[in-house]
Amino acid sequence: MVITAKQEALVVSSWNEMKDDAPTFALKFFLRLFEIIPSAAKRFSFLRDSNMPLDKNPKLKAHAMGVFVMTCEAATQLRKTGRVNVGANTSVQHLASVHFKAGVADVHFEVLKFALLETIKEAVPYMWSEELKEAWSESYDHLVVAIKNEM
Ligand code: HEM
Repeated sequence: MVITAKQEALVVSSWNEMKDDAPTFALKFFLRLFEIIPSAAKRFSFLRDSNMPLDKNPKLKAHAMGVFVMTCEAATQLRKTGRVNVGANTSVQHLASVHFKAGVADVHFEVLKFALLETIKEAVPYMWSEELKEAWSESYDHLVVAIKNEM
């Protein structure tokens, strides 16, 4: 079993607590990534030519939300099927190709994981535990490994 029913339940129940403000949280963990690695913002074509403040950029928010939702959904996919299936509108191969061409590196995925976990801890401190951290970590790691294996 890649993800246990308990781990899936932890991810889904904390997601339910965060989902009303999920775009704000998602943006927060991306801004944290850019604080730690400022050059990561240059990977995004739509940020390179934009004067818009990062926290107002709708495309950045959409990407951040995509990461958050896909990580959450990966928990259920992993529990049900043992593998990540990124969704009907895209494929792991496509995501790998987009990230490879954009020059996204291991360190970006690593720091994003740190920022994601930090944001969840701040968003739901009353739910935070080692188990919750592990559950989100597993889900994220499997999603990223699936993408990186194709890169
Ligand atoms: C594009 C998901 C992590 C940078 C995308 C797209 C998705 C996605 C769905 C849109 C693909 C398309 O064009 O059809 C994810 C997931 C991640 C992740 C699920 C982690 C679990 C990252 C990280 C970076 C990053 C860590 C680092 C900077 C980018 C860039 C693009 C992209 C640069 C292309 C955007 C553009 O210039 O149009 N990602 N992403 N992603 N992602 Fe990610």
